[in-house]
Amino acid sequence: MRQAAFVLILRRTLRIWTWSGRKLVQVEMEIKSLTITDFADAVRLHQASFPRKEIERTIFGGKNIVNFLQNLTMHAGTTGGHQFIGSFQKGRLVGYSYIRLIDESCHLNYICVDQDFRKQGIGIGLMQAWRAIGERYNKSLWSLDVKADKGALIRWYEGFGLRTTHESYIYEVVQAGMKDQAVPLHFIPDWAQAEAFQEAYGFSRFTLHVKNHGRYDIRRIGDDILIAESMLREGVIHALKSLFPGARLFVQSPEALDDDRYSFAAKSVRMCTPTLELNGP
Ligand SMILES: CC(C)(COP(=O)(O)OP(=O)(O)OC[C@H]1O[C@@H](n2cnc3c(N)ncnc32)[C@H](O)[C@@H]1OP(=O)(O)O)[C@@H](O)C(=O)NCCC(=O)NCCS
Repeated sequence: MRQAAFVLILRRTLRIWTWSGRKLVQVEMEIKSLTITDFADAVRLHQASFPRKEIERTIFGGKNIVNFLQNLTMHAGTTGGHQFIGSFQKGRLVGYSYIRLIDESCHLNYICVDQDFRKQGIGIGLMQAWRAIGERYNKSLWSLDVKADKGALIRWYEGFGLRTTHESYIYEVVQAGMKDQAVPLHFIPDWAQAEAFQEAYGFSRFTLHVKNHGRYDIRRIGDDILIAESMLREGVIHALKSLFPGARLFVQSPEALDDDRYSFAAKSVRMCTPTLELNGP
């Protein structure tokens, strides 16, 4: 089906052929980096493109997300590696993508197109821009993560040559009966910054040190805490529960866990390719 979208690259403007009723019409779409005045529209588009529950587990569920993204672009020199591309038709933002440059990889964090403008080749145009950014920054890999239950989307990505390289599971920790145990000695060296960030945006990152149990990088979104560790020692769980009493605690594991203390929440797959195919299958 991808051949249906006949795409010509004209500098930063693409001309795509699409059906309007029974007529094949040519539409002009401009692809360019988002500027700070575009982020309110990009966030609106993003929030309309995903189910509310899915949004809540990401930074796009946080408050002041527009302001956060504006800061990322204004301070690109220090925050580094965040790229936002928009697709515009007659000046209106109809699709956007959020790309991260991480090590050797050009990683697609998000791509979304306005519901009323889908299946017109705008997604393909944004994938072209993704490839161009990877090439410009000499990246050797294009990568993305996608929820494992999104079969149609995975097939769409496969059409661009992306292949699943590994899986990742998220579990909620459901641990009872810890109330009477002593909480191990622990501290968060970046507590003040993390709390300020949490207050400003509704999400944060910090490092937790637990005596005799090591050091953990933690992500907090709203009242959800996520640790990229599979089997957590009880002391660490206990420390986090005492620090954030109302929070739900999630772990990320590279394999499926069969353990009563962990309740399945989500599965995602990492897809990669060293050469992004844009002509379709
Ligand atoms: C995934 C997504 C970005 C695709 O955007 P899109 O603009 O609809 O993508 P395209 O139009 O370029 O291609 C989609 C399909 O439409 C077809 N198409 C493109 N132009 C067409 C045209 N003129 N006529 C008919 N079909 C066309 C393509 O061939 C493709 O078909 P395929 O799925 O069989 O390969 C969009 O569906 C979306 O925003 N989804 C919700 C958010 C999301 O899940 N994002 C991904 C996770 S971050």
